Amino acid sequence: MIINREQVSIKHLLTIEALHDNEVIGLIKRAQEFKHGAAIPDHLKDYYAANLFFENSTRTHKSFEMAEHKLGIKVIDFDTKTSSVSKGESLYDTVLTMSAIGVDVCVIRHWEENYYHQLIQSKTIRSSIINGGDGSGQHPTQCLLDLMTIYEEFGHFEGLKVAIAGDLSHSRVAKSNMQMLNRLGAELYFSGPKEWYEDQFDVYGEYKEIDELVELVDVIMLLRVQHERHESGESFSKEEYHQAYGLTVERAKQLKPETIIMHPAPVNRDVELADELVESYQSRIVSQMSNGVFMRMAILEAILEGKAKG
Ligand code: CP
Repeated sequence: MIINREQVSIKHLLTIEALHDNEVIGLIKRAQEFKHGAAIPDHLKDYYAANLFFENSTRTHKSFEMAEHKLGIKVIDFDTKTSSVSKGESLYDTVLTMSAIGVDVCVIRHWEENYYHQLIQSKTIRSSIINGGDGSGQHPTQCLLDLMTIYEEFGHFEGLKVAIAGDLSHSRVAKSNMQMLNRLGAELYFSGPKEWYEDQFDVYGEYKEIDELVELVDVIMLLRVQHERHESGESFSKEEYHQAYGLTVERAKQLKPETIIMHPAPVNRDVELADELVESYQSRIVSQMSNGVFMRMAILEAILEGKAKG
């Protein structure tokens, strides 16, 4: 794949599939430029952003906030507990208000899948929307920072063998990553409890037990067991899950030396991933978190370029 950076300009970022390949590559290249100290365009300081998080977040929320500060964008503070959300204000009315007071871009995380449809169909709401995660739907900004991290390591996606292992059906990260990695030519494998595996994954890759995958793959991406999205109580003890489906220290010894370990985090240490592997030499989990800031700078810039063009 020939990589030339072109200026990306988009109105919203809602799903990963809405991006063209050249836009994905353009965002990766721009994020790398920011990482290596590119100058910040002066006009970005004229814009306002609000981060509306209806589900808890450390990385997405705080790295967007860091990205906004680095770009000089003014951030309007918002907290569901102290806003009129606590009086029953709807998501639509919160975003309508943000738009009316002059917020240019809203970063939204919400438990409802596809929450953004009503917002982007509004004739009144003018704010751009960046999806910071919608239920078990999509997490496009996580996907882009994951792609940046993989690209930094290998310089391409074509032919890379990537395993996505864990709580697949509840994971928005799995959905966004499988769609875009497949489109960019990676060979995908899935692993984890069969009850969290759905037919939709067959379209993008092949199921294998984790013991079959460890010697095979270039990237192993573990997913958090999302207890908060499970309807019934615990189906596995932590130790049972770790031994049956997790990347244990023993399994990690079977990885090729150049294979990288990824996880969107937060990590359930010693469940999907052994504690001592989180910061091991093959882990890129800390790089993923750092890259998140630069990728979100690139995304915000692309959205605000879109606004400047009208
Ligand atoms: N990876 C991720 O989305 O983390 P947070 O839930 O902390 O934002």
